[in-house]
Amino acid sequence: MTIPGNIQEEYKKLFDKINYHARMYYELDNPEISDAEYDKMFDRLLQIEKEYPEIVATESPSQRVGGEPLPQFETVKHNIRMLSLQKVTTEDEFIEFDERVKKGLGESGEIEYIVEPKLDGLAVELVYENGIFMLGSTRGDGSHGENITQNLKTIKTIPLKLSAETSKKYPVIEVRGEVIIRRSDFNKLNAKMEIEEAPLFVNPRNAAAGSLRQLDSKITASRPLKFIAYGISANDLSGLRSQMAVVDLLQSENFPVNDYLILGKGIDDVSKHFEKLNSIRSNLNYEIDGMVIKVNDFEKQKQLGEISRAPRWAVAWKFKAEIATTILKDIDFSVGRTGTITPVAKLEPVFVSGATISNASLHNEDEINELDVKIGDTVVIQRAGDVIPDIIRVIKEKRTGTEKTIIFPHTCPSCHQKISRPEGEAAWRCFNSACPDQIIERIFHFASNSAMEIDGLGGKLATQLVEKGLVKDLSDLYFLKKENLLLLDLMADKRAQNLLDAIETSKRRELPRIIVALGIFGVGETAALILAEYFGDFDKLKSASLDELTEISGIGPVIARSITEYFANPGNLKMIENMKNAGVNFAPFKTDKKSSRLTGKTFVITGTLSRPRDYFKKLILNADGKVVSTISKNTDYLLAGENAGSKLEKAQKLGVSIINENEIDKLI
Ligand code: IVH
Repeated sequence: MTIPGNIQEEYKKLFDKINYHARMYYELDNPEISDAEYDKMFDRLLQIEKEYPEIVATESPSQRVGGEPLPQFETVKHNIRMLSLQKVTTEDEFIEFDERVKKGLGESGEIEYIVEPKLDGLAVELVYENGIFMLGSTRGDGSHGENITQNLKTIKTIPLKLSAETSKKYPVIEVRGEVIIRRSDFNKLNAKMEIEEAPLFVNPRNAAAGSLRQLDSKITASRPLKFIAYGISANDLSGLRSQMAVVDLLQSENFPVNDYLILGKGIDDVSKHFEKLNSIRSNLNYEIDGMVIKVNDFEKQKQLGEISRAPRWAVAWKFKAEIATTILKDIDFSVGRTGTITPVAKLEPVFVSGATISNASLHNEDEINELDVKIGDTVVIQRAGDVIPDIIRVIKEKRTGTEKTIIFPHTCPSCHQKISRPEGEAAWRCFNSACPDQIIERIFHFASNSAMEIDGLGGKLATQLVEKGLVKDLSDLYFLKKENLLLLDLMADKRAQNLLDAIETSKRRELPRIIVALGIFGVGETAALILAEYFGDFDKLKSASLDELTEISGIGPVIARSITEYFANPGNLKMIENMKNAGVNFAPFKTDKKSSRLTGKTFVITGTLSRPRDYFKKLILNADGKVVSTISKNTDYLLAGENAGSKLEKAQKLGVSIINENEIDKLI
């Protein structure tokens, strides 16, 4: 169907108007028109799109409402690693950082820094190709994240399209930033959750994370998420010479950037800004946990480089963790999924860093002895980020003489069998593999979001499944019958069916998640991904020797030993066999990086190809290769299209392999 010219024009106008007013409303909190007027424009846009489906553009505001639920998130590789930051907590430590920077640059004058709040949210990356927002992902482990494009599109402050000028200059551009929820929105959201009798979020960061990791993007669309940009990464940022220029570009493309961002010189400006942010911190409508300081000049950044996944040109100066005083009422001992016995301090509830705290961790027996803490003591707790707080000190002056000594048990609080403390370890462990609490914890972990992601299977249900004898090991989950489930408390037909459906869906999870789900001591998301990528095939991992495992970069000797111990246990092997028989997907793992076929290989691209150069550049980067602009004897391949000129000649002279489009496909 051809689209009449006047409709096209109307569509384009509506498009721009809606984008403008959405920005005024969502980002600048300064609406110029009523909600009804806005809705009217939006309805007209939808009407046109319904009538002329071919008109719908990827960057249309209608694409922000959320799409069909996904079965699971795909893993994506970041073109350029998302780095982490070195940390300092005092001015002296910052001064040492500043000295390292000066030394690295061989300079003595004051360094120019961009200083801005460190937002306490979730790091994400947005990839724009030819100006259109194409791919959005979580930070993940820095090199791989999850594809959450659909969800990010629902955030109204994320532009779906960049200006023509920027897209021409930078055909592929990656914008990085933090997704947050404001405190006021968080309170409203929790009030709504309470009415709906849904579990409440602990803090804005968790609420943001939970909302972004929804498979149903319609749920994400209903959550008050905000995006704040703090950086751009691209292979070629020519024309941009400093972090400040990046901030300017981000702003001119309508990305929200940090308020309270300054360009300062030397230690004094930075310290002053720290004092300021520290003093206004609790009055801000969003949570910040420190400040990020970046060397402004890109040449200098390059010169400084990076070390162990963190740049030498940036640092996070963290605020002091908040502390509070309360009473230790009791100690509970719990058994984790790997059998570790953990003492948990039960506290008189106190409010600290935005949350009410009633538990604190005490880690192990040695710590109880070192702190010399007793039941009834007044204790100082410290909370950093969203972790359970630690007890850092006992106020002994407040003792009345009625405090009771804590006695560490020598039997398991769940199965009552004898527990032991292996040599060299700080923890007491229960080695009974049929210990009910361990199984409950293992099921809970198995069903969690980073593992098999079985919706609706939480701690309470796991407890019932074990107590009623329906699940003795993890594989039993895949043999549950509806009639058995209906015997459980609060389990109606619909809920039972939903649970069975969720369990069925979980059979399709990919290998890294299965490895996480098994709950092998020390093997979390990062190690699981490394193992899946290294072995590809589960059976190879299962039969790997201690030596082989130890040699894998990222797998230390402790984890290696725990893996071999896990697979030496006949009970575990039987359980895995049962899962396979039930249809759990143990298929070989293929990463999007299509192996690391091009690791260490350097490419130059020249001539006219059938697709934009950036397409090929991405292909090479995805396979872990490098793309540079000038040929030297260190270049491995020249990818040459039609009308290749001087580069082709140079490659011939230097003996660099020359390949065409088809050959690169084969290489990868
Ligand atoms: S810059 C190489 N700026 O902090 C520099 N990061 O460890 C990379 N973060 O999770 C980060 N606010 O998402 C930068 N203004 C800011 C930030 C910020 C929060 C987070 C970031 C990442 C962590 C870095």
